[in-house]
Amino acid sequence: MAERLLLHATHIGYADFDETAQDCQSLFQKLLDLHPLSDGESGPMNSLERRVSDVLDLPEAIKIKTDILAAVAGYMGDWWAQSLPVSIENRALIIQDYGHISTHSDSREGDVTAVYFLTGQNQDINTVGNPRFVIEDERLRLDEQRMPWEGRHGFSVCPKPGRCIIFPSRVPHNQHPFRAGPDRMPHMQIVANFKFDNLPDPEDEV
Ligand SMILES: [Fe+2]
Repeated sequence: MAERLLLHATHIGYADFDETAQDCQSLFQKLLDLHPLSDGESGPMNSLERRVSDVLDLPEAIKIKTDILAAVAGYMGDWWAQSLPVSIENRALIIQDYGHISTHSDSREGDVTAVYFLTGQNQDINTVGNPRFVIEDERLRLDEQRMPWEGRHGFSVCPKPGRCIIFPSRVPHNQHPFRAGPDRMPHMQIVANFKFDNLPDPEDEV
């Protein structure tokens, strides 16, 4: 009987900062005030129109920024201190009704990506939310055959206020279309791409 070993399983990190619900609401409102929404007749905003750069510099984001830094440091463990200094490209995304994000990676912007949700549902992390955020298995395209014992090609993340998900920036991810409620309020999330100056390269040690 052959033993079973796992091949190339990367790590996804997450943290639920439930105590930041009020901060999420304050920042949500600030972004609504700052950023005009599409009128709905011309469709959802495109990827540039829905972006608010340097969102973590806003006073409403002070605690959220602290939490994201702590979560990413915890995810990286000992490699955090070894890899500093770091620059953090960050933005808010304002997703209106029918807005979605096609599969892509953030590897040009960072080494490690954190996505922090300002809105969503109070559900377990690996459930289908609105919108459904998916971290894909980078070994298999969605249309490739998988063996009966292999799991699905992606890990679904349910957005929830204060939920932070962390993954290597090279890993492809996407977001299914968001459906707004009767109040037409958008979904919002923060993307923070961490680019390290001194990230150790394991190949150097071979
Ligand atoms: Fe992304």
